[in-house]
Amino acid sequence: MRVEGANILVTGAGSGLGAAVARHLAQRGAHVAALDLNAEAAAATARATGGMALACDVADADAAAGAVARAAEAGPIRALVNCAGIGTAARVVGREGAMPLGDFERVIRVNLLGSFNMMRLVADHMSRSELEGEERGAIVNTASVAAFDGQVGQVAYAASKGGIVSMALPAAREFARFGIRVNTVAPGIFLTPLLQELPEQVRDGIAAAIPFPPRLGDPEEFAEAVRFCIESRYLNAEVIRLDGAVRLPPK
Ligand SMILES: NC(=O)c1ccc[n+]([C@@H]2O[C@H](COP(=O)([O-])OP(=O)(O)OC[C@H]3O[C@@H](n4cnc5c(N)ncnc54)[C@H](O)[C@@H]3O)[C@@H](O)[C@H]2O)c1
Repeated sequence: MRVEGANILVTGAGSGLGAAVARHLAQRGAHVAALDLNAEAAAATARATGGMALACDVADADAAAGAVARAAEAGPIRALVNCAGIGTAARVVGREGAMPLGDFERVIRVNLLGSFNMMRLVADHMSRSELEGEERGAIVNTASVAAFDGQVGQVAYAASKGGIVSMALPAAREFARFGIRVNTVAPGIFLTPLLQELPEQVRDGIAAAIPFPPRLGDPEEFAEAVRFCIESRYLNAEVIRLDGAVRLPPK
């Protein structure tokens, strides 16, 4: 799918990886609909990219349907990039006893149900759009290397990201008749606002565990992988680990 001139919806576009994707795609001529729960952050990305801002919870069925309809006002949505997500660190059995069930539910709701919600709505929209060449659209979901090597404290997060990985093949198979591809990027450790707040010494420690290159990922590098997923017409149902060969240790 061509990026130049395409209308592309990016969730979590107010910060970190999503904001980098929005900027990267806009620089290459895409019209970007920047969706985020944080209205101000979405508006800032929209101002920076000359696109549209959408304030919405990706896990809210009605609000997301409204946001997709608004995004479609700028033309057929040719790509969806799901970057909205939250992380948590909590043991299943901690000092206070069993993890509250609501904590697990919240992570699954935003990361997995939210990605699915956006995918189902945008795929429905794409299925009714005109073909561009041999395809109608491309969907890129964001998992994490935690989907494969989840650490102690990451049961909820790893389960949410594992669900995202597992959705790709059945979704790609189902959407084949519409000409919609579904791919997943599983990032390692990227320098986003969360990690920028850590002391340099701690960041250096994390970086030292990454084989090559021995540094945190640059969000721009994530955006390049997302663009590859959108543009590469034969890439489908793939999960790309983007991690400098890091394998997360148990703790
Ligand atoms: N940064 C990393 O190293 C890393 C590694 C692996 C995976 N990831 C994944 O990449 C994605 C982006 O991470 P990031 O580091 O850029 O995080 P971030 O916190 O900088 O950005 C996430 C954005 O998502 C938005 N968001 C959260 N919940 C939302 C909801 N319910 N509806 C709409 N928007 C919502 C937030 O407001 C925020 O702007 C996440 O899915 C994360 O799990 C990040």
